[in-house]
Amino acid sequence: HQDHVADMIADPSAPEVSRRIRADLAQVDLDLVERLMRGEGLAVQRDGHVEPADVLPWTYACSPEAVACRKEGLELLERGKVAAVMVAGGQGSRLGHDGPKGCVRATPLERKSLFRVFSEQVLALSRRTGRDIPWFIMTSRENDAPTRAFFESNGFFGLNASAVHFFVQGMFPSLSLDGKFLLSSEGGVFLNPDGHGGVFRALRISGCLDLMRDMGIEEIFTFQVDNPLVKVCDPLFIGLHHRRGAQISSKVVRKTSFDEKVGVIVKQGARTFLVEYSDMDDTLRYATAPDGTMLHWAGSIAVHVIDRVFAEHVASRDGALPYHRAVKTIRAMGPDASIVTVDGVKFETFIFDALPLARTSVTLEVLRAEEFAPIKNATGNDSLESSRALQVARHVSWLTSAGVRVADGVAVEISPLFAYDADDLMTKRSSLPDVISRDTYFG
Ligand code: UTP
Repeated sequence: HQDHVADMIADPSAPEVSRRIRADLAQVDLDLVERLMRGEGLAVQRDGHVEPADVLPWTYACSPEAVACRKEGLELLERGKVAAVMVAGGQGSRLGHDGPKGCVRATPLERKSLFRVFSEQVLALSRRTGRDIPWFIMTSRENDAPTRAFFESNGFFGLNASAVHFFVQGMFPSLSLDGKFLLSSEGGVFLNPDGHGGVFRALRISGCLDLMRDMGIEEIFTFQVDNPLVKVCDPLFIGLHHRRGAQISSKVVRKTSFDEKVGVIVKQGARTFLVEYSDMDDTLRYATAPDGTMLHWAGSIAVHVIDRVFAEHVASRDGALPYHRAVKTIRAMGPDASIVTVDGVKFETFIFDALPLARTSVTLEVLRAEEFAPIKNATGNDSLESSRALQVARHVSWLTSAGVRVADGVAVEISPLFAYDADDLMTKRSSLPDVISRDTYFG
């Protein structure tokens, strides 16, 4: 039922259009498209009773076991058993930034790009552990070239370039509401990035999973490009996940309100999974514990550690992750090559859908002020402005714990190369002033 496309492929008067459509369709799993249109392979809401997930509270970080986990995590890093994977594809439509999201100048004083923030973290940890941490960066078809060019023109921010690996995520066609392929304004088939869950398949197809296996990688630390407060390859989290023999582990923060738009980690029987904000019905969203507090408070910050063998398993079952279907307004090419706005269906997969596939999973609470300041929107909540303010607040709190007084209204920024966390900063106390009364960068 795709005669409109078949006709264009066959049209001898437009060879370039025909070539583009054929090239685009060559990437598409047509059987899968058909199955999805029939309603197979789609994410479904779970029926039945769900309970809050078992979450280790943030105070766990101060427990004796946490000391052992941190040590184990550091040892794994030192032995080269851990890779970092950053998902940096997608479209960034809400932010509306021109170019890769990772190029956004995120930090409060130095205006460092997100790519630089994470590079400095990886570099700091590589120095601390005495070996390069292999870092895999997922781009999209659209932002791959500018992302690579950005790293190259910045000398990989001091990292060993051979330890940084880029791979491109897959694309998936958006369809009209009655299941027809749409055409893009450039004349090919309208495709969209296949969601961050595409990371498993893209790691496999690009050969990165094989490379990880050959390198002896055991654990994969995954995070998103738009949260500058991620503690990349946090040794505690890696060690905890590893000691407990988990297949995929997640970090969560306490939701600020019942209506905060984050997915929540829950469990049903032995399986842990994430309920997206948009899929939460009121009973779940407003459920309270006997003491009246929020029952489902464990908001995911999309930071995971994934066992490499488990990642291979998810990647090998082609299409195993269910697809989420969303109706979006799409600017497509209409008849007579005019641009038209139509309602279309976009399909994506999400990393968190690997959670219920796992036999064992650990969920760790972390403090929002320490680890979560996403940049999603152009203004308001989760914007560049709100994130910069949260970055300042974190660094003020590190300095305050080190006994430094920071005057009100003063902004501070600490490079990961200066201090990785509050404890690390404490070791530098003798090089810090007692009072900070103007904006200061520690680099
Ligand atoms: P978001 O869900 O915020 O999507 O991505 P987005 O494409 O960046 O932005 P919007 O929704 O269009 O406004 C969360 C993380 O997942 C990555 C993004 O780069 C970001 O780090 N992502 C998202 C991908 O790598 N690929 C995708 O297809 C979607």
